[in-house]
Amino acid sequence: MSVNNRQSGSYLSKVRDASSLFAGAFGDPPAAAAVAPGRVNIIGDHIDYCGGTVLPMAINRWTAVVGSLRDDGMIRWAQQPDDDAERDEDGKVIVPIETHAQDEPRPEPGLSMSYIAGTVQTVLDEIGQSGKGLDVVLASNVPIGAGLSSSATLCASVAMCVLKLTGAELDPQRVAKLCQRVEHEWASVPCGIMDQYAVVLSQAGHATMIDCARDDVSHVPVPDDIGWLILDTGTRRSLADSAYADRRDVCARAAEKFGVEYLCHASLDDVNDPYARHVISEHHRVRAVVDAIQARDMKIVGQCMIESHASLRDDYKVSSPALDRAVQALCAMDSVRGARMTGAGFGGCVIAAVQKDSMEVVIAKVRDRVLHTISPRATVFAVHPVDCARSL
Ligand code: GLA
Repeated sequence: MSVNNRQSGSYLSKVRDASSLFAGAFGDPPAAAAVAPGRVNIIGDHIDYCGGTVLPMAINRWTAVVGSLRDDGMIRWAQQPDDDAERDEDGKVIVPIETHAQDEPRPEPGLSMSYIAGTVQTVLDEIGQSGKGLDVVLASNVPIGAGLSSSATLCASVAMCVLKLTGAELDPQRVAKLCQRVEHEWASVPCGIMDQYAVVLSQAGHATMIDCARDDVSHVPVPDDIGWLILDTGTRRSLADSAYADRRDVCARAAEKFGVEYLCHASLDDVNDPYARHVISEHHRVRAVVDAIQARDMKIVGQCMIESHASLRDDYKVSSPALDRAVQALCAMDSVRGARMTGAGFGGCVIAAVQKDSMEVVIAKVRDRVLHTISPRATVFAVHPVDCARSL
């Protein structure tokens, strides 16, 4: 796979950081490395688990994993020591190493170790090499729990690293499904398939259109003159303890009531329940945005993003005051075509479509005038669509 310099530049430093920590912690350099991007969803939230079409894109934020295979079923994860880390008798900082053996009870859902151990074990089982283990180090600049798929990027990069180390081959779509299984079985998050497909199947310069009912993926070129801005509100709420699972159940019951396999395929005319109205209308908006991107009609793209946010806020009730303030402030700016919360919601990030030649000006204005009104930890940055997860 060819990878341009602009892309590789942004993750190679993470691979270098992880490799030097690995050598310090385990004594030898790692035998393999892999990277996976984060993702942002342009439009189509809370509909992947209802058979909807969604439009995420992988972004230039990366998780790098380096590792070496073990023969004893153990997983050892070395982490970057923090400022008050323990020191040995010679004053040298001790690198913290967390371990998990396959015959031990599973780590608590939601902890990084549950994702690492879950992915290693799930992939090894799939390729018939269950007895093996892994020494591993991660380095990432995907913010955790911010709606940019920190867990999907972690699972995908670990999966790619294990495949490289064992020499086994799996179809990328299969890798995505295994990573989704880790979320369900090891993290207790009943997620859809959007994040895993976005991270494992994306193409640089394109958004990834996923028809979740037909399990079909295609690539939509993103016009060069449109830039994508992310405002991270700095507020967090984990998916596991949010209302995510409740929403999923409500949608399954609504689909049953309408007699359809997927709620997205019900008719809007039959609906007065606000949850179902969000799901069905969001599905239609995604199609409208894909058509508008192809016609380079950014006005329609922006309008659909604004409508999507209102629907997630008022009908699906997964927004938050910080997300709403961020969307409102962004939409009031010249050169911003539209903005919406992105991902599962309840905190996290907003995505805005911005006229690319004004991106720097918009970012400077957001820094000066908006961030302090959102939260003390709010940040803003531009992203662009990159290639998918891979071993190096
Ligand atoms: C999370 C889940 C996805 C999707 C989004 C909301 O990111 O992992 O499957 O449901 O929330 O669109």
